[in-house]
Amino acid sequence: MFVRTKLLSLAAAGLAIAGAAAPAQAQETVKIGLILPMTGGQASTGKQIDNAVKLYMQQNGDTVAGKKIQIILKDDAAVPDNTKRLAQELIVNDKVNFIAGFGVTPAALAAAPLATQGKIPEIVMAAGTSIITERSPYIVRTSFTLAQSSTIIGDWAVKNGIKKVATLTSDYAPGNDALNFFKEHFTAGGGQIVEEVKVPLANPDFAPFLQRMKDAKPDAMFVFVPAGQGGNFMKQYAERGLDKSGIKVIGPGDVMDDDLLNGMGDAALGTVTAHLYSAAHPSAMNKAFVAAYKKAFNSRPGFMAVSGYDGIHLIYAALKKTAGKTDGDALVEAMKGMKWESPRGPISIDPETRDIVQNIYIRKVEKVDGELYNVEFQTFEAVKDPGKTKK
Ligand code: PHB
Repeated sequence: MFVRTKLLSLAAAGLAIAGAAAPAQAQETVKIGLILPMTGGQASTGKQIDNAVKLYMQQNGDTVAGKKIQIILKDDAAVPDNTKRLAQELIVNDKVNFIAGFGVTPAALAAAPLATQGKIPEIVMAAGTSIITERSPYIVRTSFTLAQSSTIIGDWAVKNGIKKVATLTSDYAPGNDALNFFKEHFTAGGGQIVEEVKVPLANPDFAPFLQRMKDAKPDAMFVFVPAGQGGNFMKQYAERGLDKSGIKVIGPGDVMDDDLLNGMGDAALGTVTAHLYSAAHPSAMNKAFVAAYKKAFNSRPGFMAVSGYDGIHLIYAALKKTAGKTDGDALVEAMKGMKWESPRGPISIDPETRDIVQNIYIRKVEKVDGELYNVEFQTFEAVKDPGKTKK
């Protein structure tokens, strides 16, 4: 009896301590609302970023500057009305300190006014239209812009004997950025656009468009489809015999996502694209990253995984710099000008635009040890977004 009473009172004391500590503990948690497409046509982007965030936290722990990091994952299926509602709920009800993720441009844009109102950093880990960072002073991007890669592949094409190009781009903001920046550089160098088609973003059937590409008899076709669609595109490209007719694919590297590359088969061999990341990037850091990702998730990381890995790193690094202070303005200030080594190579946050500055690599698909890889052969260092409106 005595023992039992003693135990009960100890338990009660324990509860009292836990109770007293609860409010302080709640303050010690930093909450990150991670809004990603986990279902629907863009689900592979959500999966890669969610995986990479988990991996980073496994490797670096879930405490920074004395604060516990809590991720609240929400699936917006890349539908901007969902993004807006979820961002609102996360800010108002969950009182998150950051919103992050955003698999497509319309989702990143839908959350921008809420980041501004709530004075909360919005970390864009996927979307790639240039204007995004101009929509809120609280937006910081760790992904890329289509202008970074499309200008470079435009210049490369003219210098490498490609004179006539047909274009196929997804009919929404990043597709238009890719098309316009490519065209500007390719035609300035004397190249000619012989056919231009835009395909719907949702569930595109490429077949009728591919026939038009074939009929236009270009030297190459410039392609932008968002991450996740390259596999289906290359399947239809091979089925229509475009590989046999010698019409090579060029473009930003989204169509050759490492995640899907092995499934594309030999039709992808020789494809030249400009991009921020290849799983074959030959740095020690990348080798370790690819090995850890494969071990944890049994798949190869692509550029979306790296953008997510860097996004969560940026949040950790900013919290270290503010010594755990979660004031939105202080966090964004801390992020400006930050530099670090990513699996993709050296990167930084442009203090003027809050956009990513990174190397862009020109790569060619080759077979290495029986697997397809984007093998980098030329590097453009520290490329800023060429798509910022000049003020
Ligand atoms: C975008 O919607 O901004 C977007 C999505 C996937 C990409 C590139 C851009 O691969």
